Amino acid sequence: MEILYIIPVLALVAGTLFWLPRRLRRPQLATALPLTGQTFPDGFLWGTGEDAYQHEGGNEHADWYAWERSEPHPFADGSVAGRCVDFWNRYEDDFARAAADGQNFHRIGVEWSRLEPAPGIYDDAAFAHYRLMLESLKAKSMRVAVNLWHFTLPAWAATAGAWENPQTMVRWEAYVGECGRRFGDLVDYWSTMIDAQIYVLRGYFTGEIPPLKHDPAAGVRVLGTLAHAHARAYHILKPFGDQVGMIYFFSLCQSAGNPLDAFVTDQFDRLFNWNLPDALRTGRLRVAIAGGPRLDQSLPEAAGTLDWLGVNYYYREIIRFNPRAQGLVDRGPAPGAALTDMGWEIYPEGLYRLCKALRRRYPGMPLVITENGLADRGDERRPRFILDHLSWLHRLLAEGCPLLGYSYWAGTDNLEWLDGFVPKFGLYRVDMQTMERRETASARLYRFIATNNRLPRESEVADILNPAVAG
Ligand code: BGC
Repeated sequence: MEILYIIPVLALVAGTLFWLPRRLRRPQLATALPLTGQTFPDGFLWGTGEDAYQHEGGNEHADWYAWERSEPHPFADGSVAGRCVDFWNRYEDDFARAAADGQNFHRIGVEWSRLEPAPGIYDDAAFAHYRLMLESLKAKSMRVAVNLWHFTLPAWAATAGAWENPQTMVRWEAYVGECGRRFGDLVDYWSTMIDAQIYVLRGYFTGEIPPLKHDPAAGVRVLGTLAHAHARAYHILKPFGDQVGMIYFFSLCQSAGNPLDAFVTDQFDRLFNWNLPDALRTGRLRVAIAGGPRLDQSLPEAAGTLDWLGVNYYYREIIRFNPRAQGLVDRGPAPGAALTDMGWEIYPEGLYRLCKALRRRYPGMPLVITENGLADRGDERRPRFILDHLSWLHRLLAEGCPLLGYSYWAGTDNLEWLDGFVPKFGLYRVDMQTMERRETASARLYRFIATNNRLPRESEVADILNPAVAG
């Protein structure tokens, strides 16, 4: 008989603890700040950038190159990077356009597999080509950031065990030294690597990208190796006198509301956003995943190895506990939110909230927003996306946040890793047959902002976006 009472009582308790909090704490949707022609500080950096593998084309010595040609085909649209958007050959035009658009900052990546196609054998012609690129940027009075590693490894390093093989570190140090010696006079900001935690999560937890493993314990060890690789690179590059840091993808993690959601949000937030950057401040890498791998590693030479931090911010994610999901979490946009073509939530205030969190956690750390953008094939949401993110950024500056600049991702369309060429991030659309670059309305808007070092007033926006109609 009692069982009949227990069931509704349990349902009531569960509802109060788990369902009701989610209903009551529905995440607030994005709010926009008014556009009043906000001015940015003198010398504020306005930029765009390219990534080596995502833009150059022809990177046939990279591990991804062979993998892309394997079955089942890894990219959603059936494409391969191939000649990509041919940035390797068209960089001069792309840089000239960025300079004409008023930009004073530019980031490129160099591709390890291109520079060192076989262990210990450097390709002088490839080094010379990158030097031409950097000289071209300098001739256009750009401040220049160079990134050294992003997901792809030389095929020879991948075959030999990637970062799990200690020899990779030996070769990495030599490669970093070569880059320092050969490019150091032309670089203002070094980034040792981009999105290292995503490499670990997708490469070792979910097994979606090389090395295609389902081995979180190995992944966590590799995270430690990457912290060490960053630290080694920092000390190798430092004598060249530049600012050395790292570019990192931060997502704004928000709990869906109940105590279990809050618990898994905290776990995910630490692993995704904070474990690695914290280690580069403190010299200690601590990873603790409930029911999963743990690591507590002392890395004294990593302490204080961020002269600057590149922040990639794209979206907020609402995180829910789900016992059936991988890692026990469901992550996604807030209900009813505006989305990009990739289903990412458009949440400009998140950039503000994230940078405030960064400032609290790493007081005084110079920040550059190295990536912010969206996949928007029709360029319909992009103009407001840019304006809204920048007005929140302006508020941060007004509050004294040490922000050096902002770089829209990306100047042109690019290979969006597993999503192939379907997502369109570029201010300039690339015709994949002719490789021709076509200006979007957002490119005109960004030109206005960078050239004038200010946001438009609301009354100016329509004319900037559509000058022909206005004229
Ligand atoms: C990565 C880019 C990528 C972008 C959008 C960034 O953090 O650096 O490679 O295209 O995210 O996914």
